[in-house]
Amino acid sequence: MTFSYQIKSLEKYREAYQKSIENPEAFWEEIAAHFTWQKKWDTILSYNFIEPKIEWFGGAKLNITENCIDRHLANRGEEIAIIWEPNDPKEQVRSITYTELHKQVCMVAQMLTNLGVKKGDRVCIYMGMVPELTFAILGCARIGAIHSVIFGGFSAQSISDRLADAQAGYIITCDGAERGNKTINLKSVIDDALVGNEQVKKVIVFTRSKIPVAMQKGRDTWWEDEMEQAGQQVEKNGVVSFPAEPMHAEDPLFILYTSGSTGKPKGVVHSTAGYLLWTNYTFLNVFQYQLGQVHFCTADIGWITGHSYIVYGPLSAGGTTLMFEGIPTWPDAGRFWDIVAKHKVNILYTAPTAIRSLMAFGLEPLKNKDLSSLQVLGSVGEPINEEAWHWFSQHIGKGNCPIVDTWWQTETGGIMISNLAGITPQKPAHATLPLPGVIPVLVDENGIEIIGNGVSGNLCIKQAWPGIIRTTYGDHERCKTNYFSTYPNLYFTGDGCLRDEVGNYRITGRVDDVLNVSGHRIGTAEVENAINRHSGVIESAVVGYPHDVKGQGIYAYVIFEESNHNQNLTKQDILQTVTRIIGPIAKPDKIQFVLGLPKTRSGKIMRRILRKIAEGETQSIGDTSTLLDPNIVDDIIAGAF
Ligand code: PRX
Repeated sequence: MTFSYQIKSLEKYREAYQKSIENPEAFWEEIAAHFTWQKKWDTILSYNFIEPKIEWFGGAKLNITENCIDRHLANRGEEIAIIWEPNDPKEQVRSITYTELHKQVCMVAQMLTNLGVKKGDRVCIYMGMVPELTFAILGCARIGAIHSVIFGGFSAQSISDRLADAQAGYIITCDGAERGNKTINLKSVIDDALVGNEQVKKVIVFTRSKIPVAMQKGRDTWWEDEMEQAGQQVEKNGVVSFPAEPMHAEDPLFILYTSGSTGKPKGVVHSTAGYLLWTNYTFLNVFQYQLGQVHFCTADIGWITGHSYIVYGPLSAGGTTLMFEGIPTWPDAGRFWDIVAKHKVNILYTAPTAIRSLMAFGLEPLKNKDLSSLQVLGSVGEPINEEAWHWFSQHIGKGNCPIVDTWWQTETGGIMISNLAGITPQKPAHATLPLPGVIPVLVDENGIEIIGNGVSGNLCIKQAWPGIIRTTYGDHERCKTNYFSTYPNLYFTGDGCLRDEVGNYRITGRVDDVLNVSGHRIGTAEVENAINRHSGVIESAVVGYPHDVKGQGIYAYVIFEESNHNQNLTKQDILQTVTRIIGPIAKPDKIQFVLGLPKTRSGKIMRRILRKIAEGETQSIGDTSTLLDPNIVDDIIAGAF
């Protein structure tokens, strides 16, 4: 397989970009010709951002697993598709060839079919980072079931909400997940999530940790038993096969829940063909991936980064993707560097929060670590500060590796703004230039486009690209309101952005009530709702503040019903409540008990003021005269951390 659409010079980037804007249909048709289709398209693109309705490759049929697996079998069947590095470095590494991956995915497809899963059914996946997670995802895609992976750190309550929203009938999970020196009992979390649920028919349990679990008769079944039976069915005379379901280009491939500024997390829906093209194209171009290279994306598959750049991007390219089960600081803070040396990793794609937390250990963990295999470094999830950028470049890349600063979102399916490694110029802390197909525009508060360079505004995207969100599951109106109504005919990202003198983009962070904590997206409303579930809490308000390692920390102002309670105990209780309702990632870093919140006469909380106080900027709070009770601000400042 050759990648003739891999851009090899700045000049070619400019040419490709120009063509993708002037004639997107011709541009993407040429790229689509490199994929495996069961039926070719009648139309290439039709869309409007009003309803919104987006259709790429209308009339076409394909199955994404044929593109990620089958088409590599003839020439690359014995190449390694997945390297699995276990949590415990003493445990055996697993290397899975494309031939083996094909077999496992056919078996999962057969197993799901045996259990009654049909095309269009929603299958929720709640597993640790084991290869079976990838087999499960692709097994769903093979039969056209819609997968919805839930990050292993979410609580039973969060899972229960997502199961209900997706109306999922099936779950695939593990007995436990291994993370550092902990085993997390995933199956028992699922059991809690299923209390009162009548929709889920089957729970498939993969044995990872060999811990005791309760199996409910008729509902729960072991992965190993089901797979054994399926294995016998898919193999005939030594040949393994399972037909790949013909999917319409626009059929949903998966749902992934993400936080917004209001309400509960929403299920972002991605389509089949557009998502395939977008993850493949961006993977090959941004990282400049060459066959044989080892690509290590440190994200969890429970987030979009894992979907796009551990699973679909690398596998669609016939590449080798590394899945790491554990955490960067166990057994010690040199773990990432050990993995790089052990597997001769060529591309390392990680998050600024991970870089900052490893920087804090100094250079000791890097001693005697052979990082010479590294060729490209990548950053994602939040703005990377210059200090972290330089540390990454100097100490990990040894000054020889380009760093791609990739800006994108769950909703965009893949990378939108980034330099192309070694091809287009990099600039510390800047995502730089848009990928072909992406037209970023900056607008002011009134929706007026800001033209020219050396400007800033709210970041929107003008034209449909293949990987764009299609809907929010079960509630299309919400998709419209969230992304397409703020500014007519534009997709609104929720991010603020600068465009420098020569046109490089620099993302400055969210302009809505969404926090970015250690690269995880968390809605302030979600955290407030969780805190308010504590029986003694009258009201709360949550804002972000700058945090050295996490990027942003969570600051909660809480009105508690009693004034003489034991504050430390109440804080512990509140943290437990948040952990129970959402999960540990949403726990506030600071909780301040207050007597009131700064509200306007119409009852709206002035978060701007709370943000300033949390940031320690009490001198620049500005006008408080519109508040119902301006004195409350002084009280809050007096008690602030
Ligand atoms: O604020 C931006 C930030 O992460 C948000 C998207 O979060 P999520 O959907 O969870 O996806 C994260 C992984 C793609 C964006 O709205 N963000 C992501 N990448 C960058 C970034 N901010 C600055 N620079 C980046 N490279």
